[in-house]
Parts: sequence; structure tokens; C-alpha cells
Amino acid sequence: MFTDVSGWSDLIGEAARRFATRPHRLFINGAWCDAAEGTTFETLDPASGTVITSVADAGPADVDAAVRAARAALESNAWRKMTPIDRGRLLNRLADLIEANAQELAELESLDNGKPLTAALNGDVAGTAKMFRYFAGWPSKLEGATIPVSPSGGRTFLNYTRSEPVGVCGLIVPWNFPLSMAAWKLAPALAAGCGCILKPAEQTPLTALRLAELIDGAGFPAGIVNVLTGRGASAGAALVSHPGVDKIAFTGSTQVGKNIARQCADSLKRVTLELGGKSPNIILPDADPAEVAEAAATAIFYNQGQVCTAGSRLYIHRKHFDRVVADVASKAQSIRIGPGLAAGTQMGPLVSSLQHERVSQYVDIGRSEGGTTLTGGGRPHDRPDGYFFEPTVFVDTRDSARIVKEEIFGPVLTAMPWDDIDDLVNRANDSPFGLAAGVWTRDVKQAHRIAAQLKAGTVWVNCYNVTDPASPFGGFKESGWGRELGRKGIENYLETKSVWINVA
Ligand code: NAI
Ligand code: MG
Repeated sequence: MFTDVSGWSDLIGEAARRFATRPHRLFINGAWCDAAEGTTFETLDPASGTVITSVADAGPADVDAAVRAARAALESNAWRKMTPIDRGRLLNRLADLIEANAQELAELESLDNGKPLTAALNGDVAGTAKMFRYFAGWPSKLEGATIPVSPSGGRTFLNYTRSEPVGVCGLIVPWNFPLSMAAWKLAPALAAGCGCILKPAEQTPLTALRLAELIDGAGFPAGIVNVLTGRGASAGAALVSHPGVDKIAFTGSTQVGKNIARQCADSLKRVTLELGGKSPNIILPDADPAEVAEAAATAIFYNQGQVCTAGSRLYIHRKHFDRVVADVASKAQSIRIGPGLAAGTQMGPLVSSLQHERVSQYVDIGRSEGGTTLTGGGRPHDRPDGYFFEPTVFVDTRDSARIVKEEIFGPVLTAMPWDDIDDLVNRANDSPFGLAAGVWTRDVKQAHRIAAQLKAGTVWVNCYNVTDPASPFGGFKESGWGRELGRKGIENYLETKSVWINVA
């Protein structure tokens, strides 16, 4: 199985090397097992395109077993009678284990996804520990209310609400932030007291499997978290259609999200969706051009541009357009591209050959529609292998161009000038998406006015791509349904029950 031809095994520690080079199985009811049909698939190192190892390929029978395990665990005394403080203690213990194994998790994430090791360590893994830490405080704060009802006929009632776990949750996550996206869903689901089935993306299964080991080590009851590696069309689809699943939480493409919503309509399963984006990043005339160029480059190129909130539409006031665009292009050229695990790498490969193809096609489309690439536009000359793509900056695009309208999910920026702020806000909002937006200005009145006008679930002023476990995250329009994180986020994993007591 050990097929490292690109030399990554010399770049990672012993623990990650051992984990990455052995075959992996499914985690169902606290035990490791092969897929019922015995099938497996391979996960690749995107820096070389070579096989890392094989993982079990879950099918409908495995989904069924995991759903049964989650249901039984959810209804067991071990879970139902656990005090809220003790549930929080488990989540804190898991956060401790993530911190204690941070380097190994980061190495696995960098290897499997391609992202730079420093980003995996300081972003993904640190954020994952913080997510469990934050939600560890919630179990003991899930209060109901006593409601002052007004009955007729001289009757008297005590009416109160209870917040109860929604039940068994299918958590389907993507490959761009594999471990963090798992945590964004597992942490609130577990804090709410739900049973979980996590399905990582087929491109990046490794950290979810390592997380399962840590969940086991933290002492969660068997079956409360199950991890099924498998493909979207089989394991994912079986989870969505399973009658024993009460809620689906999904992050991924808008197309698959819409399909999931349609399917959930049949059973009225609860569903939350975090989907695509095409986020505007807006530079006002009073912003400091040097500061914004750096920030605008990071907003699009972070994580190889594979970020749902990527600042992919850069609107620069005409006064600064030439200078800022030139600065962004020169920053793009200075980014050190290489394998995520190699020292000094600032941008890794895209996740897969399919993603490389999608991004390449968009560049061709952009050029055929009249756009000009100021820099980038293809595979770097010194990277013949793997799925590397240059940071790319387009100018001369029309607002109706497909590369201005559609999510590319790669390191491709379109930079556009603007003159009038009201017209610009309309252009920024002229999108089926509404996930995020950035505004750069020193004018506090403008900042608040524009933040209120933008149709987006998150608006960043003089910053970009900042998130926190306490602050709600999600999309307007076709960017999704519902919010994750914070109080809003945990509410999606709860049902409200109204209890009436006749006290007359
Ligand atoms: P995808 O939406 O197919 O995959 C995301 C997850 O959904 C994976 O775990 C996958 O196995 C699962 N899935 C796929 N089909 C399913 C189905 N029928 N039922 C249930 N689960 C299913 O995304 P993909 O193909 O990897 O990427 C395509 C595009 O999606 C990207 O180019 C990007 O534009 C967008 N995307 C957006 C993400 C975000 O963070 N909003 C993350 C990943 C991709
Ligand atoms: Mg991989």
C-alpha cells in the first residue's frame, strides 16, 4: 500500500506516516469494520497525483448500520442520562486531544488536501479545537422558557418549552476544509445531544478517520459518532434518503445542495445547507491602496481559492484601479507554490485533477469571453506533476461574463473598476449567491451603510475571511439555508417542545 513516490513520507512525523500508510475502515458503533460489500477506494496526494492509501467505500448497508447505531446510542441511558456538564466535559476532552495531536492532524490534512502545513496547523486544526471548546459550553445553557399564556375561561396553565436534540444527524462535508467542516457540524450536534453520522468527502477522508479515533479516546459512548468514508452518490445519497435520519447538514456545491433539499422534502427531514458563493470584495476611494492589495490577494488565493467565501469579484474604485490591480498581480506572482508539506510553501495544489480541469476550463471561458489574464492562467511551468494552478488575475471582463457570475473555486480573481457607489452595490448584489462580502474604507458611515445594503450572510469591513465559533455563518439566496455556529447554529440541532401543565 505504501506508494509514496513524491517523497512526502520524509516530510511528516512518524505518527502521521503510520496513519497515512495503512488502509482504513469505517467507524460504526464504536468499532472499525470493512464496508459490507468489501469495497474500497483510494485517496490521493494532490501534490503528485499518487495514491496515499485505501479507505472503505461505504454503501447503503453500512449507512443503515450506522443509523441504527446512532439511534441506539441516542436513546441509551449512557447518553440520555449524561448530565449537560458531563457532555461538555467530553467535548472539552476532545478539544484537548485535538490540541495534543495537532501536528499529526495538520500533516494528514496537508498531505490529503494539498494545503500548506502552516495553514492546516494554525487555521484548520487550531480552529477545530476551538470549535469543540466553544460548543463544550453549550449543553448546560440550552434553556427553555416559561411562557405567560392567556387562556380563556378562567383556566390556569404553566407553559414551558424544552430544547431537545433533533435526533440522528447526517453530516456531509466537503474537501476544502475537511477537519474544520467536520467540527462545524459535529460540535453543535453533540452539544445539542444528537447522534451523528459523519461522511467526509471522498478526496479527503484521512483527518475525519483520525478524529474518530480521538472521539473514541475522549470517551463518547459507542455509536454516538459514526464515520463513513464513501462517495457522494452512494454513501451520501443513502444517508439523505434514509428514513432513520432526522436531519441533514451539508456543505458543498449548490447543485448537490439543491438535490438534497428536494429529497429532504419527501420526508420533511430537517436540512441546513452551506453552499457556494461569488463574493464581492469592494474597495472604496478612501482605502489605503497598499494595504488593500495585500488583503485582496489573500481573500482570493487563501486555500488555493477553494473557499466558499473567496473574494473572487474584486471591485476597485477607478481612482485606485491600475495601482491595486498591478499590486495584486505582483503579489500573485510572488506566492511560493509547492507541495503543502514542503517548507516555505504558500500555495499548494488544487485538490483533484477534476478541480484542476474545472478551473482550467473557466480560464479558457474567461479568455474566450474577452477577459485578459494579467498574470497566471495555467499550470506553473516548474510543476509538471500534481494539480498545481497559478494564482490568476483577470481584467477586462464584462459583468455578464461567466467568470464574473459563476463560482470557480480556484485561485482566479476578476478585478473590475467602479465609479458610483449605488451602482456598485447593485452590481455586487446582482448574483444568485449571497454568502459573503468585503468592504474596505476608513469612512465609518459608508461602512455601516454598505454593510446593510449588501445581500450576504457575512460582511467583513477592513478584514476578510474571519470566522468565529460564536458568530453565525451562512448564506442569503442560493448560498444556503440556515446558519451554522453560535446560538443560531446550535438551534438547527434542536427541536422546541411546548409543554402545558393544567395547574388550575
Ligand atoms: P460536492 O457537492 O459534490 O461534494 C461535497 C460533499 O457532498 C462530499 O462529501 C460528497 O461526497 C457529497 N455528495 C456529493 N453528491 C452527493 C449526493 N448526491 N448526495 C449526498 N452527498 C453527496 O462538491 P464537489 O463535486 O467535490 O465540488 C464541486 C464544486 O462544488 C466545486 O467546484 C465548488 O464550486 C463547490 N464546492 C463548494 C464547497 C463549499 O464550501 N461551499 C465545498 C466543496 C465544493
Ligand atoms: Mg486526498
